[in-house]
Amino acid sequence: MKLGVLTGGGDCPGLNAAIRAVVRRAVSLNIGIDGILEGWKGLLTSHFRPLDIASVSGILPMGGTILGTTRINPLKTPEMKRKVIENFRRSPLDGVLAIGGEGTMRVSYAFHKAGIPTIGIPKTIDNDLWGTDVTIGFDTAVQIATDAIDRLHTTAESHHRVMIVEVMGRHTGWIAACAGIAGGGDAILIPEVPFSLNHLIRLLKQRASRGKNFSIIVVSEDARLYEGVGRKKKILKTPTKKDEYGDIKLGGIGMLLARELQKRTSFEIRVTELGHVQRGGTPTAYDRILATRLGVEAVNLAHSGKFGRMVGIQGNKIISLPLQQVVKKIKTVDPAFYKLAEVFFG
Ligand code: F6P
Repeated sequence: MKLGVLTGGGDCPGLNAAIRAVVRRAVSLNIGIDGILEGWKGLLTSHFRPLDIASVSGILPMGGTILGTTRINPLKTPEMKRKVIENFRRSPLDGVLAIGGEGTMRVSYAFHKAGIPTIGIPKTIDNDLWGTDVTIGFDTAVQIATDAIDRLHTTAESHHRVMIVEVMGRHTGWIAACAGIAGGGDAILIPEVPFSLNHLIRLLKQRASRGKNFSIIVVSEDARLYEGVGRKKKILKTPTKKDEYGDIKLGGIGMLLARELQKRTSFEIRVTELGHVQRGGTPTAYDRILATRLGVEAVNLAHSGKFGRMVGIQGNKIISLPLQQVVKKIKTVDPAFYKLAEVFFG
């Protein structure tokens, strides 16, 4: 048996740990393994690289991906799809292990139905994949955002400022909610829970009246903010530029929020957009362990011929489920979890 492994979509810490786990488990089962370079693009161009124990030695703590990644969508045109299938058939591969997020899982499922046996390994700092409690990269991103909030606290307090921290997460607020709770955010704005600007201002004033002359607002990049209750007027407009998968390119909400707050209050405001810092650097121990467990399980599944599935973690158990189920919806922040965060607002 020979498998191909690829990393697709945005990178994140823990990808190399997953690649290492896949290779080490494959070698132990006498399965040959090729790296498919730069995500699905590698199958479009037949760009493979044989992997062995030596090629993954020392990569466990490294951020990024030794295979490279792109956001190329191979389903964009029928020609691209055909080319990938043709190249796979001509290759020595019996299956593909795709380490990726929502877009990669959608593509994996489509190709699985088209005759390329695939198995998904979930990674994304956004943690929005259905069917797994946690995705590779999320824990590290939350830690990075929490560290940033801790640092912003001290300078916010010295200068009596309102600090807005914009975090990534696409259409879900997992990073904002978790880093906001861990870092003691005074308000956390996430896409799942529309927030009123008037309420936000009330919270800031409430803090000031308690003698707290600084505040930290954690805002997720796709948060919804409205003028008041009744949600009549949306204050922050969503950007419209899209990537290859048709996903909106987000970013910049922190500045917009600052502008609106500045118009209505006298607080001194500063904005930090954490951006791709959240995707860089060495993975946490949790991410390394998760990546290792998921990588090994993906190869185990392939070895027993169970393709068309994604591995995941539920509770502390490694599980797998059909890709068909995974691609149906995204995993949003549990309202009860957000309620917990709200206890500490203001
Ligand atoms: O999906 C991961 C993610 O980092 C999102 O949180 C963010 O919206 C997007 O990717 C950024 O994409 P890019 O790396 O293409 O700018």
